[in-house]
Amino acid sequence: MTLLDGKKVSNDIKDEIAVDVERIKSRGERVPHLAAVLVGEDGASLTYVGSKVKACERVGFDSTLVKLPDTTTEEELLEKIKELNENSLIDGFIVQLPLPKHINEDRVLVAVDPSKDVDGFHPENFGRMALEMESFIPATPSGILQLLERNNVETKGKHTVVIGRSHIVGRPMSILMSQKGEAGNSTVTLAHSHTKNLSDFTKKADIIIVALGVPEFLTQDMVKEGVVVIDVGISRVADASKPRGYAIKGDVDFENVSKKASFITPVPGGVGPMTIAMLLKNTLIARERRKLK
Ligand code: GUN
Repeated sequence: MTLLDGKKVSNDIKDEIAVDVERIKSRGERVPHLAAVLVGEDGASLTYVGSKVKACERVGFDSTLVKLPDTTTEEELLEKIKELNENSLIDGFIVQLPLPKHINEDRVLVAVDPSKDVDGFHPENFGRMALEMESFIPATPSGILQLLERNNVETKGKHTVVIGRSHIVGRPMSILMSQKGEAGNSTVTLAHSHTKNLSDFTKKADIIIVALGVPEFLTQDMVKEGVVVIDVGISRVADASKPRGYAIKGDVDFENVSKKASFITPVPGGVGPMTIAMLLKNTLIARERRKLK
């Protein structure tokens, strides 16, 4: 069994980005600038956004964290997005999800200028991605492709089962795994809550990507020997023995599934760090594209 070490691969990618930033600086140009908008006080979101800002410092990007209270109205948030769209010193920005219930997520995502949409959530980017045109590819699926590619995991002609059809991970992942090119050319099944006899699919799968948010959902009896397993889940599960009072669990019963797997991602240290590295990469791309305009 080989561990797909997202910490290591993401550090390699960050090192590559840092070299590019040095080159930008040596030309006397402005470094890439990422902004993140966080509405409310959700603990997990605060942690994720904090990690994104820290990662900017690590590679030499400028970053701005826009923290708005829970009580922010949709109009106020849309006004902030308009400001960020118009600010020529910001190359890319993200609005951390989930948003408070009183805010319509779709209206917010379409308000982001597609050329600054480094999350790749705007319908224009999503559509372009599906058509294999130049776009921003959502960071988590993009990170999974890099993790497979840089570990020389063969995907061509393999049967991939993606579990979960979220707009952020499962759906784009299912499209990307079937596309032409590296870490693609796979035959894809997209499974979800209405899939009958899920085990019939997973037992035949060469590659399984689980993005459900249900701790330890994928068990040993559901997979075949030699399977490649990508675990996107990251849930906080109450655990009094831990200093914070919770443990981080993935969607895979790692201890037992890893005994059958040829490659598997750990949680934490697998997909999570890759997401951040690819967000930085998209910001670098956004900066380069803006210069060309
Ligand atoms: N919430 C969970 N994952 C993500 C992500 O990749 N981007 C944003 N903006 N919010 C998220």
